Order: sequence, then structure tokens, then C-alpha cells
Amino acid sequence: MSETPQLPSTGREWHLVSRPVGWPQPSDFALVEAEVRQPGPGEVLVRNAYVSVDPYMRGRMSAAKSYVAPFELGETMQGGAVGEVLVSNAEGIEPGDFVLHFLGWREYAVVDAKQAVKVDPEAAPLSTYLGVLGMTGLTAYAGLLRTASFKEGDSVFVSGAAGAVGSQVGQIARLKGASRVIGSAGSDEKVKLLVEEYGFDAAFNYKNGPVAQQLREAAPDGVDVYFDNVGGDHLEAAIGQLNRDGRIAICGMISVYNNTEAAPGPRNLARLIQTRGRIQGLLVGDHYDLQPEFVREVGGWIRSGELKYTETVVEGIENNLEAFFGVLRGDNIGKMIVKL
Ligand SMILES: NC(=O)c1ccc[n+]([C@@H]2O[C@H](COP(=O)([O-])OP(=O)(O)OC[C@H]3O[C@@H](n4cnc5c(N)ncnc54)[C@H](OP(=O)(O)O)[C@@H]3O)[C@@H](O)[C@H]2O)c1
Repeated sequence: MSETPQLPSTGREWHLVSRPVGWPQPSDFALVEAEVRQPGPGEVLVRNAYVSVDPYMRGRMSAAKSYVAPFELGETMQGGAVGEVLVSNAEGIEPGDFVLHFLGWREYAVVDAKQAVKVDPEAAPLSTYLGVLGMTGLTAYAGLLRTASFKEGDSVFVSGAAGAVGSQVGQIARLKGASRVIGSAGSDEKVKLLVEEYGFDAAFNYKNGPVAQQLREAAPDGVDVYFDNVGGDHLEAAIGQLNRDGRIAICGMISVYNNTEAAPGPRNLARLIQTRGRIQGLLVGDHYDLQPEFVREVGGWIRSGELKYTETVVEGIENNLEAFFGVLRGDNIGKMIVKL
């Protein structure tokens, strides 16, 4: 419990003011100066230090039924954030502690302590709790090892390979003994990084030609695992190159998130008969039991330098929205983070 220090009376936060149709527009959002209220019993007041912008937020901007409730119009949007506790009315959390919580898109957050997890800024840089050691990292780890049932010797293809999830999928596959790791990304610069920094065996720029053809050249012996971040032509190409008993983990389909009409499905699903292939969706929220193992293993690889990570950091709450647009456009390498 603590004395109330001098507190900010207002803070800025991002509201959704209309539901985007197609690509989100700046006019769908408003940066609002709002009163910072005192935390009640069991709550903490946090000054956000880093907030996350993620592709799934596009889904929450629509009213369609999903695994998580839509953002409410006229309300502050939400998302992962880490920040410093200014005031605590909760047992076990003190002012000066840092917590991971779910009230991003704002400078100050009043958080139910039950929804806040203490993090140690000495153990790892604060921003990594949103990325390589956070939600996107666990998605890569669980999606590859559990959903895709990766095993040593598998040939692995991952799309969105220079992004937060994808760059980690490829590196975990390599570290766990993949026979070949192939990635696709949206620029030649990203492709170079995949091969030269992250140790992918092959990579291609999906904007340079048909995905199916580029994948055939990059994976002449086929793929045992495809980790899908993109959907669309990538998924169809991966089914086309799938080996016997191949596995496809559907993590995301960013190529269709801004579509106004449903995209056609892959035309070659019948190949799953021939390959006895399996396609399975994954949701990171189902895999938090792997968190301790994930942090131990990935934390070790980061410390030893065997796993590299990149963050694209945008500064200022006023640029939170532009950072989100940047993720949809592909401006980021690794995790896109907003530093406040
Ligand atoms: N299922 C789960 O629980 C879960 C959890 C986290 C994330 N996800 C999903 O995983 C995927 C990656 O998420 P992330 O946080 O790591 O994001 P990210 O990969 O860091 O950023 C998104 C990337 O998508 C690429 N992209 C955008 N439009 C594209 C298109 N039309 N075709 C191909 N690539 C496109 C861009 O890179 P390029 O320059 O390469 O185009 C962009 O950098 C997303 O689909 C996300 O929804 C799912």
C-alpha cells in the first residue's frame, strides 16, 4: 500500500470512433485527453512505458464475432503494455514496480492488479516482454512446437518471416534442428536479413513474383511444416509444396485482414489427401502453460546470442496509430513497439 504521490490529472489515449471498412483510416480514430482517475481497491495506476501494436487489433476494430470482444466505439482501445506503477492499492505490487498488462493505447492506465503481471527490468529490456519474450514469442514457440508438431529434420516454411512471430519461428526451427528453414517477406532488405542475420537457409520477397514458383525454387524437396502468418496465395503455395504427413499451423492471415469480401480459399486442398496433411489453427491464449519453458529456453538462446531479435520502435503516444498502420503496411522488422 502506498501514499498517493503528485499524479497527472490527465493523459492521452486513443479511441476508436468508427469501424473501419477495408483499410483503417485516421478518421476512424481520435487521440483524446482524458482524466486520470485514482485507482480503487485492488487496482494500480501505471504510467505506460511501451505499448504494443499488433495485427490482431484490426480484428477488434470490426464488430464481427471473434475469440475476443470488439473494441467499443468511443472507448479507449486496448493492447499489451508495460509500465511503471505510480500508485498501488494492491497487495504484492509497489510503486516503482513494472507490470505487463492489457491497457495499451494510452499514457496512463488504471489496471486491476489481477490482470497485471510483474516484470523485471533487470532481467530483460522492458520492451521484450511485449515481443521476443512476450505474446508474439510464445505464439512462435507454441505454434511451431505444439500446433505444427515440429520435429528435428523437418523442413520449415514461414511467411511474414521478418516480423515478430515469423522471425522467431524460423530461428527456433533452426535451433531445434530443422533440415531447412525458408522464409518469405515483403522487401529485399528483409530477405537479406533473414538469410544473413537470422540464419534462414533460403528466403524470398513475395512481391518479386508468384509465391508458388518462388517457394518451389526455395524448397525443392518440399516442406514438412508451414507456419502461416499471411494466408491467401502463401497458403495455397505451401499446400502445393507440402510433403507427406506435412503440417500447417494457421497463426494469422494478414493478407486478408483489410478485405471487404471473403477471399477465395486455397484451390488445392485435395492435396491434403495425397499428403495426409493436416491444417490446424492456433491461438496463443491456449498455450500459456508453456510460458515457463518458453522463457527458459528462448531466454537462454537470447543470452547466448543464438537467437537474434529486432524491434522497430516508434516514439510517442501521438504516433501509436501510425505505428499500427505501419504493421499492416510492413514498415516493421521484428516487433513493432511504441515507446512513450
Ligand atoms: N493466433 C495467434 O494467437 C496470434 C498471435 C500473434 C500474432 N498472430 C498473427 O501472426 C501474424 C504475425 O503477427 P506479428 O505480430 O508477428 O506481426 P508482424 O509479422 O511483426 O507484422 C505484420 C507483417 O505482416 C506483413 N504483411 C502485411 N500485409 C501483408 C500481405 N498482404 N502479405 C504478406 N505479408 C503481409 C508485413 O511484412 P512484409 O513486409 O513481409 O509484408 C508486416 O510487417 C499476424 O497474422 C497475426 O495476426 C496470431
